[in-house]
Amino acid sequence: MNILAIESSCDETAAAVISDQDGCPKILSNIVASQIDLHTKYGGVVPEVAARAHIESVIPTIKESLKEAKAKLSNIDAVAVTEGPGLGGSLIVGVETAKAISLAKKIPLIPINHLEGHIYAAFAEEEKSKDSKIKFPILTLLVSGGNTLLVLMEDHLRYRVIGQTLDDAAGEAFDKGAKILGLGYPGGPIISKRAEKGNSKRYSLPIIDLTPPPKRDENGYLKKATPSLDFSFSGLKTALLNFAKKEERLTPTKINDLAASFQNAIVETLVQNSLRAIEQYQPRTFVLGGGVAANKALRETLSQKITDHFPGISFITPNINLCGDNAAMIGVAAYFHIKKKSQKRRSVVAIPNLKIEESV
Ligand code: KG4
Repeated sequence: MNILAIESSCDETAAAVISDQDGCPKILSNIVASQIDLHTKYGGVVPEVAARAHIESVIPTIKESLKEAKAKLSNIDAVAVTEGPGLGGSLIVGVETAKAISLAKKIPLIPINHLEGHIYAAFAEEEKSKDSKIKFPILTLLVSGGNTLLVLMEDHLRYRVIGQTLDDAAGEAFDKGAKILGLGYPGGPIISKRAEKGNSKRYSLPIIDLTPPPKRDENGYLKKATPSLDFSFSGLKTALLNFAKKEERLTPTKINDLAASFQNAIVETLVQNSLRAIEQYQPRTFVLGGGVAANKALRETLSQKITDHFPGISFITPNINLCGDNAAMIGVAAYFHIKKKSQKRRSVVAIPNLKIEESV
């Protein structure tokens, strides 16, 4: 079985070919045409510019992915595509291209939720080995530019959101933080680089905890609330702005220290809620996924804390090249949909605000 996968939800045009090897998904090619250079001058993604760039690069990217996989369209058995969430104009390009291929080649069209793709990026690595470490229930911390979620899975392709951000996503916080410090776009990789040279203790930035305070019950006893699994990063951004404004001159050393303190606050908040979720739901596997999963400090801190506090749980995170947006993750998710025969034929359209629980 060969799957051609297409991803165009934001500012990367991506295509990949996934095949089956001994009952496991194998990545034959994974091509990403990044638009970062186009958007850098605007300090963020411009939806109209992104959509137009996808139109130009979608066919060359698909051709390259087939070439690298040494495959032809006639060898492809199914075409998978991101149907949402994402930017409407960007999604439409991938969805309509995939529909055309499906129609012309008379092969099934598999719509995939971008967020499940980020989770399944981790499965691409692990399912290769026979003694796979992936055991249900699986808890995923999904951190990207548009989403910050804690997702529980009791089986393949079944998702329950148990925590989410109430305002900015973690990646968005990195991007906005970098803007405040005058560091450019995308902010995550730049902040993490500057943070390596900085002192994370110099500025005291808040680690937000949304747990409500204890309340008195009818007998007058104080009752603790269940620790919150939700996130909020907008206050942290304001705190960074206030520290930056207070400085008379932002020297390179001060920027490094602000970057390190800011990164530390984001990482500690993500780790705090992840450990709480593990405590509350007792999963057997923990997955860290999404673009922000490329952050070295987050990968190392989370892995270490889980090993120390919950030694029975496997910690899995995709290779760095599969953390950001790519089509291989969409193909791997499609592989499991095909294997589980989970989808009925239906019309496919771009759905910009698609929720992960709605992916069928
Ligand atoms: O998953 P992704 O490529 O796109 C979405 O689906 O949103 O994530 C992009 C986000 C951006 O906000 C970017 O700043 C962040 O991931 N990011 C990072 C790092 N690399 C990318 N954040 C922190 N540290 C990194 N090393």
